[in-house]
Amino acid sequence: MRIVMLGAPGSGKGTQAQRIQKDHGLPQVSTGDLLRRAVADKTPLGQKAKQAMDAGELVSDEIVLGMIKERIAQPDASKGFILDGFPRNTSQANSLDALLASMNVKLDRVVLMDVDFDILMKRLTGRRTCSTTGAVLNIYFSSPADLEACRKAGGELLQRDDDNEATIRNRLQVYERQTAPLVDYYTKQGLLKTVAATGEVDDVYSRLKGALGLG
Ligand code: AP5
Repeated sequence: MRIVMLGAPGSGKGTQAQRIQKDHGLPQVSTGDLLRRAVADKTPLGQKAKQAMDAGELVSDEIVLGMIKERIAQPDASKGFILDGFPRNTSQANSLDALLASMNVKLDRVVLMDVDFDILMKRLTGRRTCSTTGAVLNIYFSSPADLEACRKAGGELLQRDDDNEATIRNRLQVYERQTAPLVDYYTKQGLLKTVAATGEVDDVYSRLKGALGLG
């Protein structure tokens, strides 16, 4: 299956894509994660991307497309993948259509993770990533047991550089302006399903699997 996960920052795309990857073996392809790795490794691409990411703006289409082409050509993506955070504007969506057509494959489904705007700020300011397990957690919403599991594994709870209020506000505006029009784009292609993404993570996961026909 080839899936696109659409949704505002903090709507739970990464959290849910990781679960599908674990249970169904479809690799999560997150442009945000690929970019953050390039920034941490101080590659030339990472150095170019850093300024835009810190400001909550989109990185250039050229950089992101190059990364996507390389990633989905890898053997583990040959039977499918979940795109998390890509495409982010109409130009990227057109490029993705062209890329998949050149590979003789198609998207199977696009899911929109639908969350009320006022919940997003709390989810994003509270997000922490475990330095050892990589688990995406939340100081407001994760259970004490899950937060403790990170500490027991010798990990620290790290906050993303772009999860501060000013940058989050801009990321949400950029989403409204540039990414939200993709809802229409994929509705017209007959691919879009909307998932109510508020409530317990397990409940959202059940609804998502229903929308994807993953049982
Ligand atoms: P990216 O990393 O893609 O960030 P994003 O879209 O802003 O999305 P997030 O990762 O913030 O949110 P998410 O939906 O994955 O939520 P999560 O599951 O973590 O992009 C970062 C930057 O990279 C961009 O600003 C841009 O500069 C650049 N970039 C990336 N892709 C690009 C592209 N294609 N083109 C150009 N530039 C690009 O959940 C959030 C929190 O909520 C967590 O703490 C989680 O534990 C919690 N949570 C999740 N579900 C629930 C629930 N049901 N109940 C309570 N809490 C929950």
